[in-house]
Amino acid sequence: MFTSVSPLSASADIQQDLFEAIEALKQELNAIILAHYYQEPDIQDVADYIGDSLGLSQKAAETDADVIVFAGVHFMAETAKILNPNKLVLLPDLNAGCSLADSCPPEQFARFKATHPNHVVVSYINCTAEIKALSDIICTSSNAVKIVQQIPLDQPIIFAPDRNLGRYVMHQTGRDLVLWEGSCMVHEIFSEKKLVQLRMEYPQAEIVAHPECEEPVLRHAHFVGSTTALLKYVQNSPRDQFIVVTEPGIIHQMQKQMPDKLFIPAPPNHSCACNECPHMRLNTLEKLYLAMKNRQPEVTLSESTRVAALRPIQRMLEMSA
Ligand code: 13P
Ligand code: SF4
Repeated sequence: MFTSVSPLSASADIQQDLFEAIEALKQELNAIILAHYYQEPDIQDVADYIGDSLGLSQKAAETDADVIVFAGVHFMAETAKILNPNKLVLLPDLNAGCSLADSCPPEQFARFKATHPNHVVVSYINCTAEIKALSDIICTSSNAVKIVQQIPLDQPIIFAPDRNLGRYVMHQTGRDLVLWEGSCMVHEIFSEKKLVQLRMEYPQAEIVAHPECEEPVLRHAHFVGSTTALLKYVQNSPRDQFIVVTEPGIIHQMQKQMPDKLFIPAPPNHSCACNECPHMRLNTLEKLYLAMKNRQPEVTLSESTRVAALRPIQRMLEMSA
């Protein structure tokens, strides 16, 4: 006689098997799993460390694991490889790119830089290793203001590639920055109009937003910060309702850590229901398991680019200590 297995319990079993297999591979490989907050919830749940771009770089710089499994996008895993040339760095899906990094092609940026001699180049970490190699200092959304503030006032600055973070830094520091006109496809599609309507439905809610959003959206925010900063803010706020204006993967951590608070994802300006980053979401738990099992796909880069890209990353780590 047949006993039927419901599809739901079958998929829960598969998920449990994957969790266990990943744990075993972690021991076998002496691996660490680093995950960004925009990864799917299952991946966040197997990670050894979840963080924003600065936290992930700091963790990658200090780990003594032999293998770094990077659950994030390519520029993040590439940064880990730049810091760890002798470690195996795995990315579950090598196609996990970034529209912001793609919006700054190295040849065009080199020409742009040449037209602004005597400028210091501060680049947001969301860029390729080639752009990092053309930069003087790297920054992330959590330290961009602090880093620009440490540069002498008479020193002209190019800020690349995110024009929205650049404008936010200009606003916070009062500095005039020469901006590269790049942007993130996820953070630019939040609708100011729908955000205002949503706030009218939840008048007690605080709005927390990522600085990659456009200025008209940021103007409505009670707090602007990196993903880690947003998480800390909602932890410390006495409010219990928040409209979250960034990729909704972060809501998994918020809800997990604060089950009694309400987190509402901000609406995009299209009819699709959510703002998930299509690049981040290319990684899945199964691909992560296969990457560990097969020791690939591996992130690699030329030694000359790596060495040139390392210097501005090290400057960032020193300047944010
Ligand atoms: P942070 O997590 O550093 O705030 O970056 C957000 C982001 O867009 C990563 O791609
Ligand atoms: Fe790139 Fe934006 Fe996706 Fe972050 S959210 S990986 S900046 S496209």
